[in-house]
Amino acid sequence: MTPAARWAAAASILDQIAAGDPAEKALTTWARKSRFAGSKDRAAIRDHVYDILRCWRSTASLGGGDTGRARVLGRLRQTGEDPDAVFIGDGYALSPLSEKEREAGHPPIGAEALDLPDWVYERFLRSLSDKADATAEALRHRASVFVRVNLLKADVASAQAALLEEGIETAPHPLSETALEVIEGARRLSQTEAFRTGWVELQDVASQAVVDALPLAEGMRCLDYCAGGGGKTLAMAARLHGPVDAHDADPRRMSDLPDRAERAGATVTRVDRPKGTYDLVLCDVPCSGSGSWRRSPEGKWRLTPERLDELTGIQAKILDQVAGLIRPGGTLAYATCSVLTCENEAQIDGFLSRHPEWRVAMQQRFDLSQGGDGFFVATLTKT
Ligand SMILES: C[S@@+](CC[C@H](N)C(=O)[O-])C[C@H]1O[C@@H](n2cnc3c(N)ncnc32)[C@H](O)[C@@H]1O
Repeated sequence: MTPAARWAAAASILDQIAAGDPAEKALTTWARKSRFAGSKDRAAIRDHVYDILRCWRSTASLGGGDTGRARVLGRLRQTGEDPDAVFIGDGYALSPLSEKEREAGHPPIGAEALDLPDWVYERFLRSLSDKADATAEALRHRASVFVRVNLLKADVASAQAALLEEGIETAPHPLSETALEVIEGARRLSQTEAFRTGWVELQDVASQAVVDALPLAEGMRCLDYCAGGGGKTLAMAARLHGPVDAHDADPRRMSDLPDRAERAGATVTRVDRPKGTYDLVLCDVPCSGSGSWRRSPEGKWRLTPERLDELTGIQAKILDQVAGLIRPGGTLAYATCSVLTCENEAQIDGFLSRHPEWRVAMQQRFDLSQGGDGFFVATLTKT
C-alpha cells in the first residue's frame, strides 16, 4: 500500500470507531476485508489510528470536523506533514481537499489541546494540580515498550544479551531493576526465543515497580485478588521464588494464565473462592485506567462520571472484602493505574475510616514523567 492509501484506511477505521466499534475490533474487521494489506501496512495503519485516538479532540479541531477524514487532516497539520501528499485521490487514497476543507479547522485550546474531555481535565486539575497539564500532555504520546526480566529463568544481563542477539536492542530503566526498555525491534519481541522461553515478559516499568514496592519474601502465602491476565501475579511469583494464588471476579480473564505461568516457570494456582488467611493480598483493582491512556486511549473518551462513581464503589467493596483475608500483621496492598485522587489516596482514606484498626505502611505514586504509566500503590497492615 502507498502511504496515502494507509491514511485512507485509517480514516475509514476511525469512522467505525466513532460509530461505536472498539478500536481493536475496527482494526481486525478492516484487516479481514483487506487481504492485500501486508504486516507493515497493518502496523502503519494501526499507528495512525492510535496516534489519532490519543489526540481525538485536537485532531478534530485542527481538521475542522469529527469524521475520520477530518481527523486525518488534523493529524497531518499537527505533525507538519503536507496534506496534499496524502489527499491525492489516486488509487485508494483520500480524494483531494475541497476549498472548504482547506479553510476549516482551528488551533485547539485548553482541555481540547490537552486531549481530555472537559470534566476529566477538571478531575486532573483537582488530583494533580501543577502536574495536571504535563500528565495530560504525556498521555497524548506513544508509550515506550518494556519487558520484565523473569528472574526465575534469567538475569538482566543475560536476557539483554539474548535479546540483542535476536536483533532487539534494550536498555535498563531506573524505575525497576528487572525492567528493560525496548529501543529497537519491539514489534518482533513476541517471536524471539527469549520471549517464547519465558526469559522476558511484556510489562510496563511502573507496573513492575508496583510489585517491587511490595514487602515480599520467600515462603510468604500470597494472593493476587484481581489477577486478570496475570502480569503482576507472575512478577510476584518471580520475587517470591514460590507459589502465588490468583483470583479474579471474572475467571475468564485468567484464561491465559496457566500457559503464561508455565512459560515463566512460575507456580500459580487459580482460586475461585480464596480461603484461610494470607501474608499478603494484592488488589490491583479495576479503575479508570487514566494512568495508562497512552496504551488504551479509547478509555479517555469512553469514561463517564457515572462509570467513575461505579468504579470507586467497586474499589471500596474489594478493599472491604480483602481485609478479611489477611492474617494479623499481614499486608493488604492496593494498586491502580489511575492518576485520580478519588481512586487512590481518597480510597485509602475511606478504607481507614471504615477500618480504624488498619494503618498505612507505604503509599506511592508513579508519575508518567518517570517513564512508565501512571500508577498508585499503598500497603496497609492491621495494628
Ligand atoms: C486492573 S485489572 C488487573 C490487571 C492485572 N493485575 C495485571 O497486572 O495484569 C482488574 C481486574 O479486576 C477484576 N475484578 C473486577 N471486579 C472484581 C472483584 N469484585 N473482585 C475481584 N476481581 C475483580 C477484573 O475482572 C480485572 O481483571
